[in-house]
Amino acid sequence: MKEITVLAPATVANVVCGFDCLGFALENPCDQMTLRLIAEKTVKIKHLDDFNLPLEPEKNIAGVALLAILDEIEENIGFEIEIAKRIKPGSGIGSSSASAVGAVVAANKLLDERFSLLQLAEFAMKGEFVASQGRHADNVAPCLFGGFTLVRSVEPLDIVKLDFPPLFATVIHPQIEVKTSQARKILPTEISLKSAIQAWSNVGALVAALSKGDYELLARSLEDFIVEPVRKKLIPHFDELKSESLKSGALGGGISGSGPSVFMLSETLETAQTIEKSMREIYSNTEIDFNVYVSEINAEGVKVSKT
Ligand code: HSE
Repeated sequence: MKEITVLAPATVANVVCGFDCLGFALENPCDQMTLRLIAEKTVKIKHLDDFNLPLEPEKNIAGVALLAILDEIEENIGFEIEIAKRIKPGSGIGSSSASAVGAVVAANKLLDERFSLLQLAEFAMKGEFVASQGRHADNVAPCLFGGFTLVRSVEPLDIVKLDFPPLFATVIHPQIEVKTSQARKILPTEISLKSAIQAWSNVGALVAALSKGDYELLARSLEDFIVEPVRKKLIPHFDELKSESLKSGALGGGISGSGPSVFMLSETLETAQTIEKSMREIYSNTEIDFNVYVSEINAEGVKVSKT
């Protein structure tokens, strides 16, 4: 195999109570990328979108992840990659992880699957570091493994793939800029034992709820008293989005990653679509451009494109 095209999904990190450790993958939107083997130890990048991302591999997220793979192989080969990003950079739904994970999964397929998923996660995190300057895998893990994931540890990397029941996500992406670095700077550096107890109780309960398909427990577990109160100030109409979504039947939700996207989880597609309408109504009354996605949970992560 000399060429492959893959679809790398958007992801929702944190999932309200699991800051820097929980995440899940969406069925859409996805980045599309085509990778070819070339007879030169280098990475050549072509963009098929309007985001003006860097072409130098050392500055490009997919490029850095692919260079990390080339460092590990002896053959005198390299990669040519064409990237059509559909997940807007800075949207808070794992755009940089999709670039990095899509590239390494495609490369691994061209290399006859010689690396494990955990090795691929390490390569992808090197790419993701270019964007976030931090080491967290809560977007990389669900993009790579699919479904819901828990990152138990980043050093060494330990990723747990979680069972989950049928769920639908509604995600609104207000087109405003919230830099992850900025959204991390405003967080408390210390929390009280009381807050820590609330947080780990909710994470444990959420994992159990997902595994048992207990939607009521899931709804009760989607609460966060540490990050949301600080970050929601960066997202116009956050409280209204949340309260109207809950009225429309959402199980719960909150800020996707570091924002500005906001997600809600529902038990049925109908509820997810009702929430879409109410989110659209709220933002139609503002001057802010926005996109809304309704999506199933992507259970398998990066997929080989059939087209
Ligand atoms: N867990 C990270 C954060 C995700 O919330 O800052 C953003 O990359």
